[in-house]
Amino acid sequence: MNLELPILAPSILAADYTRLAEQIKACDAGGAQWIHCDIMDGHFVPNISFGPKIVDAARRSTSSFLDVHLMIENPDQYIENFVDSGADLISVHYEATRHLHRSIQNIKKYGIMAGVVVNPATSLQNLEPILSDIDLVLVMSVNPGFGGQSFIEKTYDRLRKLAQLRQQHELEFLIEVDGGVNLKNIGNVAQNGADVIVTGSSVFKAKNISRRVEKLQEKARQGKELIV
Ligand code: DX5
Ligand code: ZN
Repeated sequence: MNLELPILAPSILAADYTRLAEQIKACDAGGAQWIHCDIMDGHFVPNISFGPKIVDAARRSTSSFLDVHLMIENPDQYIENFVDSGADLISVHYEATRHLHRSIQNIKKYGIMAGVVVNPATSLQNLEPILSDIDLVLVMSVNPGFGGQSFIEKTYDRLRKLAQLRQQHELEFLIEVDGGVNLKNIGNVAQNGADVIVTGSSVFKAKNISRRVEKLQEKARQGKELIV
């Protein structure tokens, strides 16, 4: 997949569900290449969002890459449902899987990309045994469960550490950041190593979604250019 990094991945958790298709198309018009789908079960995180049917609706609204973030207990039980709904990538939480290597294999057997998510309190070293098997690491920059939270500043250091780990092991997984990213900090987020950047409220609460996507991508690219 030829990727123009950094990639913006608007999270539809913050969308207006009475106008979901229209708002996804507005993201596309602004140049977003990915759509981030936040799945929450009310157990792994203290909130319930949506399931495969909304991912299926997103699939039928866009040709963008569907990045499905499972914030659920027993994610293995639902991988096939989200593959059938059109997911191009499924990420599972390190903290929600007892047999992470098996979960990753369970995703990859469908021929889609597999990611692992780490919460702010989870050490990146825990991922070392699995880094060569995955396509993406999603670093949470908020505690999962809600949009509109503030970015946890320590994430910058974790991004740099993860990029070092990638270089040390000569791997090519993507680094994604999720939570609290906006026009003010997206340049910094990109400059510290994010390849894929999730933005929810910053996109869907904007007056003009397409324009906001364009501006976020512009600032992200400027940040990436500052990497020495
Ligand atoms: C939080 C989700 C994030 C969130 C991002 O649990 O994983 O994707 O929706 O929303 P903002 O950008 O508003 O923090
Ligand atoms: Zn997410």
